[in-house]
Amino acid sequence: MNDPLARTVTRVAYMATQLPRFAWYAGHDYVMRRLAGQVRRNATLRRDGPSARAGNLDQRRIYSDLADLLAQDLANIEAEIYPLPHDHDGTLFTRLRRSRLFFEDLPAIQRRRERKDTREVMTAATAGKRPDYYLQNFHHQSGGWLSEDSADRYDTQVEVLFKGSANAMRRQALPPLREVFAGRDQRRLRLLDIACGTGRFLDFVKQTWPRLPAVGLDLSEAYCRHARRHLARWSRLNVVVGNAEAVPAPDASFDAATCLFTFHELPPQARRNVFRECARILKPGGRLVLLDSLQRGDEPDYDAMLEWFPQNYHEPYYGSYLGEDFSAIARTCGLVHLRDAKAFVSKVMVFDKPTGR
Ligand SMILES: C[S@@+](CC[C@H](N)C(=O)[O-])C[C@H]1O[C@@H](n2cnc3c(N)ncnc32)[C@H](O)[C@@H]1O
Repeated sequence: MNDPLARTVTRVAYMATQLPRFAWYAGHDYVMRRLAGQVRRNATLRRDGPSARAGNLDQRRIYSDLADLLAQDLANIEAEIYPLPHDHDGTLFTRLRRSRLFFEDLPAIQRRRERKDTREVMTAATAGKRPDYYLQNFHHQSGGWLSEDSADRYDTQVEVLFKGSANAMRRQALPPLREVFAGRDQRRLRLLDIACGTGRFLDFVKQTWPRLPAVGLDLSEAYCRHARRHLARWSRLNVVVGNAEAVPAPDASFDAATCLFTFHELPPQARRNVFRECARILKPGGRLVLLDSLQRGDEPDYDAMLEWFPQNYHEPYYGSYLGEDFSAIARTCGLVHLRDAKAFVSKVMVFDKPTGR
């Protein structure tokens, strides 16, 4: 983007959408903490409790890293890697309704947290129909991954957790895709988004490559229904229910695969199974892009916060994720780990399937 006027307009438009988003979701976070009395409790915990070191992470550091993420997001837009994004948070009415759903659910979450109740969704009706590891109330969420309300609440919960930066983090998975799509006819490429959830990342994929055929795969029928509604305006897009450990697609049928914010929720063996499936469905020369939490040692100042996170949110596999060796897993699947790039509290991991030439 060389035109100074276009650059200024883009910057103003970016700030005009992202800053209110930050204020909206950071505001939710603040109100949530006040309601839970956490502000007072945290002050005590920080002195001598298990979150002591986590609480000591300088808030200025967090806000400075968040600002870096937004600066990177804007730089990508100015470099025309992707267009000025539309977050599609819905009308004011939709946002207020989701806000109500979010706050109404907090007492149930708190109750589960206190009782360490994490298996509500494992019932006679659900057991055996999904992998056991899946049938849990991750983050103490109501309905696990199984209900319509859970799908409707999910994006507010994630954006509150990340102070309105979840979508900006997701967009950091687009530049490595641009590298492999550049100069190619997008209509002849295919992308698979594994564990697509409510479809927010696919929305940014389609905003960038509207004619790219894309598939979203997720094990939750409710989340898939939500994603289909959210993505209804796009053509050449399918959202299918399925297990990422056994992707219902032929070998070498996709040019790119992505998986965001999911590997930390998989047990080690499932992580390996999903990785193997990614390698299988990629064409030679294809690319896998993962985006997920920072791991232990990536940013030493964050280590204590990362260790503390699964104690407060039900994240049974996060501890093993923190030390997972993704380069080694990639090697066993025939993929090459190219690089990682930090994106606030997450990182983008890039893997290629060699062409074999
Ligand atoms: C934390 S959410 C991430 C969703 C989305 N990628 C995002 O950016 O927000 C995890 C998602 O993974 C899905 N999931 C977990 N295990 C799965 C599996 N084995 N196969 C397919 N989807 C799975 C869940 O249903 C849920 O939608």
